[in-house]
Amino acid sequence: MTTVGDYLFEARGLTKSYGPNRILSHVDFTLGKGQSVALIGENGAGKSTFAKIITGVIKPDTGTLAFDGIDVVFTAPRDALAAGLAFIPQELAYVPHLTVAENIVLGQWPGKSGWTSPGRIRARARDVCERYGIDFDLDAQMHQLKLAERQLVEIVKALMREARMIVLDEPTAALNEQESTTLFGILRRLNDQGVGILYISHRMDEVYRFSDRVDVLRNGNRVASVRPQETSPRELIAHMLGQEKEEFVRETVAHSGSGAIQLHSWHSSGLPALQDVSLEVQAGEIVGLYGVRGSGADLVAEALGGLAQTVSGEITIGGKTRQPFASPYDAGNAGVAFVPAERKRNGLVLGLPIRRNITLTLLRSLSRFGFVDAAAEKAISDDLIRRFDVRFRGEDQPVGRLSGGNQQKILLASRIAAKPRYLVLHEPTRGVDVGARVEIHRLLAGIADEGCATLVVTSDVEEAVTVPDRLIVIKDGRIAGELSGSSMTQANAISLATED
Ligand SMILES: Nc1ncnc2c1ncn2[C@@H]1O[C@H](COP(=O)(O)OP(=O)(O)O)[C@@H](O)[C@H]1O
Ligand SMILES: [Mg+2]
Repeated sequence: MTTVGDYLFEARGLTKSYGPNRILSHVDFTLGKGQSVALIGENGAGKSTFAKIITGVIKPDTGTLAFDGIDVVFTAPRDALAAGLAFIPQELAYVPHLTVAENIVLGQWPGKSGWTSPGRIRARARDVCERYGIDFDLDAQMHQLKLAERQLVEIVKALMREARMIVLDEPTAALNEQESTTLFGILRRLNDQGVGILYISHRMDEVYRFSDRVDVLRNGNRVASVRPQETSPRELIAHMLGQEKEEFVRETVAHSGSGAIQLHSWHSSGLPALQDVSLEVQAGEIVGLYGVRGSGADLVAEALGGLAQTVSGEITIGGKTRQPFASPYDAGNAGVAFVPAERKRNGLVLGLPIRRNITLTLLRSLSRFGFVDAAAEKAISDDLIRRFDVRFRGEDQPVGRLSGGNQQKILLASRIAAKPRYLVLHEPTRGVDVGARVEIHRLLAGIADEGCATLVVTSDVEEAVTVPDRLIVIKDGRIAGELSGSSMTQANAISLATED
């Protein structure tokens, strides 16, 4: 049992702002030798920022860190690693065409730790793998490995550096059940050997299976620090959410008739693996699909936009039943207006002016003999800019210069310019300021009221329970349940999305 004063690691009063936004406020944290702590919190709570600060990726504005009771300042991840603190980020960097052994060797040689040759490092890597029961082929090429195995390579690299504390940022988000079990087995063995572990999660089941303590971050504040046995998932969820606030609540309308969009038993192999996902959206209805990262919600959205071709099953749309879409073009032809999560990559042409972005999807009908009917284009874009209340200096201003919220409004405007009957939105307000967010939510309600069948795919729980008429929750590739009316609360949604 750890007593005050002999922590392996201690952070005091960490504060961090980006511009006017306070991301972390005076966060304290301790970790004992061989202890495992879970850090949980909603999207945007500041978990990754915290992990990056304690591992030297970014600097705090104020606050101190101590390792082994000695104050430390990390100016780069390599400082942290040299002190014995390793970070396994969610997005792993690796050299694809080298072997596992070479990747492990890469960070070590020539090293100060007395390694003399790649051969000896390789032998040592094998020792480490054996000692911790990690089983993989050191001669495999990195790009042949699954994500789970690449994470293990990172862990082996950390152990080769004799890491005494490992920070993992949502390590299981993209792992299947068995891979997660393997990972936790290894982490437990590390614990037994005295390594301290901080892992970030938003899965309640993991917290209960693995951690000695759970810390909860909410809006950059540590609001709880408790032993799992002394609390309940309900209580932890309540800490994550605080007071539920209502921002925009849609009046629920009764819908009848067969679904305008129906997904029939979608499956996929690979990760996440969808299993028998069926759902329907009626004309005039907004349905939400909510899941945490790795739940499969993203894949469903992308497949509806024609961006994922790995899904089998059928879709009925406009009365016709067919295979899932093979391309964005295919989805568009079927009448689906799709608002992608990656608006910079898939949605907008940042160099083009506002007006042209809005009317891009309409250009074919607006142009005759290769010329765009400028008057018609202006009329349509003026109308949408007014309806969407886009703030800008001139319609000829390139979209890339606008704020995230205004870009998102233009993206939405461009998708509804053609008055679609089916609208699918993927993370419609990610990275959007609060004001624009409420406006976008109101706009969605207006679009649905005009009869559009609307599916909102989101990992933002507040959005999930305020915007849709009913909410479908997906977990581990399966539909975990459906909420509507008074049962559609953040606590119920998170509970369905994260508990066994
Ligand atoms: N480099 C950055 N610049 C501005 N804001 C940022 C930056 N990184 C994160 N944020 C903001 O800080 C908040 C917390 O983000 P993050 O630490 O990634 O949360 P979590 O990991 O809990 O989801 C979010 O609102 C995010 O938009
Ligand atoms: Mg994060």
